[in-house]
Amino acid sequence: MPTLSRFLLFVFIASSFKIGSSIEVHVINALPRGSAPMEIRCNSRSTNLDAKQLKSGDDYRWIVQKERATYLCAALWVNKIASWHGFQPRRDANQKSVFWLVKENGFFLGFDNSSWVKKSTWESE
Ligand SMILES: *[C@@H]1O[C@H](CO)[C@@H](O)[C@H](O)[C@H]1NC(C)=O
Repeated sequence: MPTLSRFLLFVFIASSFKIGSSIEVHVINALPRGSAPMEIRCNSRSTNLDAKQLKSGDDYRWIVQKERATYLCAALWVNKIASWHGFQPRRDANQKSVFWLVKENGFFLGFDNSSWVKKSTWESE
């Protein structure tokens, strides 16, 4: 097979297997406007992301690379705490993006930033 055809075949196969594709995870603070910022920190076994302060309306995002490890997130807001799986390979690995909407009544998961399923709640300290 000519070199160019071989190259194009390789590109086609590589893109159909999404080699090197990464997934963007968002955590959107949808707590009441003007309320205290929420503190959040997410880690996988091999990646420690910096702790962040999110104001109402902020969209915090990070990229999950090929490793596809589970990310555990912990959050603190006023006198409430929460922890949840921000990224879970079995649940999320086939998505392009993972969105978390954080509200007073809990943590909502969506893959298109418009339809949401409640997955977790705040606990009082
Ligand atoms: C998610 O949806 C909100 C509200 O419609 C919009 O303001 C925001 O830009 C969207 N974010 C992304 C990353 O699509």
